Parts: sequence; C-alpha cells; structure tokens
Amino acid sequence: MPAIVLVGAQWGDEGKGKATDLLGSRVDYVVKFNGGNNAGHTIVIDGEKFALHLLPSGILSQNCTPVIGNGVVIDLEVLFAEIDALQARGRSAEKLVVSSAAHIIPPYNTVIDKVTERFAGSRKIGTTGRGIGPTYADKMNRIGIRVQDLFDEVTLREKVTSALNLKNQVLAKIYNRRALEVDAVVEFLLSYADRLRPMVADTPLLLHEALEAGKTVLLEAGQATMLDVDHGNYPFVTSSSATAGGACTGSGIPPTRIDRVIAVVKAYATRVGEGPFPTELLHEKGDELRNAGAEFGTTTGRPRRTGWYDAPIARYAARINGVTDFVLTKLDILTGMPEVPVCVAYEIDGVRHADMPMTQAEFARAVPIYETFPGWDDDISAARTMADLPVNCQAYVRALEEMSGAPISVIGVGPGRDQSIVINDLLA
Ligand code: GDP
Ligand code: IMO
Ligand code: MG
Repeated sequence: MPAIVLVGAQWGDEGKGKATDLLGSRVDYVVKFNGGNNAGHTIVIDGEKFALHLLPSGILSQNCTPVIGNGVVIDLEVLFAEIDALQARGRSAEKLVVSSAAHIIPPYNTVIDKVTERFAGSRKIGTTGRGIGPTYADKMNRIGIRVQDLFDEVTLREKVTSALNLKNQVLAKIYNRRALEVDAVVEFLLSYADRLRPMVADTPLLLHEALEAGKTVLLEAGQATMLDVDHGNYPFVTSSSATAGGACTGSGIPPTRIDRVIAVVKAYATRVGEGPFPTELLHEKGDELRNAGAEFGTTTGRPRRTGWYDAPIARYAARINGVTDFVLTKLDILTGMPEVPVCVAYEIDGVRHADMPMTQAEFARAVPIYETFPGWDDDISAARTMADLPVNCQAYVRALEEMSGAPISVIGVGPGRDQSIVINDLLA
C-alpha cells in the first residue's frame, strides 16, 4: 500500500488526529501537506491528552517519520514551542523532517490576519488569526518567504525588504498600525535558522525514494473539504487545498502513487467561524450537542457550532476526494438521544436537491430535509465490533453508509486510541 491520503469530510475537527495516530504505528511516514497552526488535533493515548497544531499527528508514533510538506505554512515560534512541549513530556520530535520549499508565516502576516478580520466587522471570515490567509496570498503573489531562504541571508533580506515595502503601507495607511523594521524581522527569522537546518530536506525527493523502497506514506490533511479554498464554502474557507488533490501538490507525491483516500466524518456536524451551515442547531439544542461532544476548538478555544449529520456534504466529500473509506467518529456522543435526525437532501427555493447546489448563494438558502432515526441508550464506548452496538445504532451507521457514497471502514466510539471498531483494515 504505497501512498494513502486522509482528509476531513466536513468543516474540520472530525477527529483526523486520532485517525492518523491510529495508523501511525503501521506507516513509515506521516506527511502534513496543507495548512499550518490553524489546525488543532487532540489525540488521547492511554488517557494522556496531546494537542497538536503544526506537527503531523504521526509524531506520537515512535517508528514513523513525521514530515512537514511543501504545502504547509510554518510559524517558527509555534513549531519550536510545540517540539519543546512534546520533549518536556518525554516524546521525541527527533525524526521530524521539514520541506525546504514550505512557506514561513512572517510576523507581519499574523498581524495582518487579525487586523483584516477586525476591519471586516460583520463580514469577517472568523479566521484563527494565525496569519494563514496572508501567507498563502504571499505565496501566490510570489512574495513569500520559504524555509530555504533562512539559509541565505542576502536573499532573505531582499525578500523581507520587498514584502515590507508593500505590507508596511497596508499596515500603516489602512490599518493605522506601526510599520515593521526589516532588520527586526530578518533577525527574528534568522534566530531559528540553526535549529531548523538539520530538519530541512528536499521532501518530495525523500518521499519519492521512500515509495520506491516500498515504504508506506500517509498524507494527512489539516482542515477539511468544506473549508477547501476551491471546493469549500468560499469565501468562508481556509486558504489552502485541504482535499485529496492538495495532497499531491502539497507533498510532491504524484496522483498515480495514491491508491486510497480515507475521509474522516463525524456522526454529526460542527463548524468553527462564519459561513453557511444548513443543519446547524441553535440555542439549547446546539448547546446540548456541543456539551455532549465537548465541541470547543483545540486551537482558539471557540465554541464550535453544532448540527446534525449532513449526507449531501458527505456525498460531496466522497466525490471531490474520491473517498475509498470513511472513518465515522464520535458515534458515542449520540448515545442517549431519543432520536437522531439526518439531513438527506436540501430544499432550495421550493426544489429538492439531493446534492450540493451549484452556487454558494443557493447553499446559504438550503433548508435541510430530515429523515429521523430512533436513538439508543446503551453506552457504546466499549464496543469493538459492529455486533456490540445496539440495534438502533447499527441501523444508524448502515443508513449513513448508504447515504454517504463510500463504505464506513472504522467507527470511533471514544477519544482513546483503542476506542475504535475496525470493519475494514485501512492498510490492507
Ligand atoms: P481534528 O482536527 O480533525 O484532528 O479533530 P479535533 O482533535 O480538533 O477534534 C476531535 C475531538 O474529538 C478530539 O478531542 C478527539 O480526542 C475527539 N475524538 C475523536 N474521535 C472520537 C470518538 O470517536 N469519540 C469521542 N468521544 N471523541 C473522539
Ligand atoms: P482542523 O485541522 C476547524 C476555519 C476557521 C475559519 C476558516 C479560516 O483542526 O480540522 P484560517 O485561520 O484557516 O484562515 O480560518 O477556517 N478553520 C478550521 N475550523 N478546524 C480546523 O482545523 C480549522 N482551520 C481553520 O475557523 O472559519
Ligand atoms: Mg481540529
């Protein structure tokens, strides 16, 4: 099994970290291919909780080599703080490899992200404020700073100077903020160069050689399908390619190498930040699901918006990503609900749509059409086979599978590594 992609099917926080960690001990490389420290993955191992942002989730598996791919944007301060925090807990980040072509989030972009959001007022996106959008914009605008630039002071200074020529105008004249000094920014970035250098490699070449040698590579997405800059709810998206296609550009692994695409999907839905969310539950109903699922952001601590499972979105994710397997997570959270509604289609302007409509304006007006399933009361957190699940719970899973466009291969019944029902081996 050469290269496998793992993505989020909804709006993020589906439990990608746990799913990656589950496979970590059986794969040789875990590559983060998009996003940056906007991601937040909580992983629980033997009751011990780890929160990862920038580091690939494979970092917690001893034999696996974690890789930060070229498609990632790196906040150096966060990177080393995260490595230090892991080391302080007796975990090693020694094997981490960082792409020489990954982009750096310079300090001015974190400022610009935050002030842009404040300036937008009610039209804000609700970003994580980590400088993600401005850094990907710089990348496309060809004024970005890359990892390799840290090892060439002359080039670095030139790049920071030309970037600040523009950024300082924006900061000072539009946002009424203090301009940044070239020297201070260059010095700040260079202060990480020595520590970073031993980790840096030509990661597309490294991964090519690994695949040639028959190694297994897992490509782990941050964010999710509905937050993808092309395929998500634009403009309420992140600024990277979080779908399976992004795994190729963000790692340098060609599409012909990829033969499995796993999508992680929660048994209900959540969203952080602004943007349309057809099945959203408001007031007490939303609070109930939020509290049951502990749906508070790992990165910003914001309460996550909550709602019912949206099958058109799962089908869309299956289509856009070419999903071969779903990992259905947090099924245990629905225990005790008298009934569980599932959105099976939308009504838009009086017309039934079984799938995602063509435009965002239509999606924003979509009214869910629900089918309601009977709930179950028995605790399922110790279930390890489908047969261990209550009959109503089994029926719910089977219905989701039928509606979602790909088989459900693993079911999560708790946050722990072992709290999973494996129906099909994802690596077989
Ligand atoms: P990610 O961003 O996709 O990696 O997901 P997050 O880590 O942000 O959010 C998922 C949360 O759900 C984490 O706190 C996980 O520990 C937890 N989790 C994952 N799978 C399950 C599950 O099957 N059941 C329960 N109860 N919690 C889960
Ligand atoms: P993981 O990997 C949930 C959301 C933000 C905001 C939008 C743009 O943990 O699933 P950004 O800072 O990326 O420019 O914000 O995207 N967002 C996430 N929501 N989980 C994430 O990551 C997210 N990363 C970004 O809330 O709506
Ligand atoms: Mg998360």
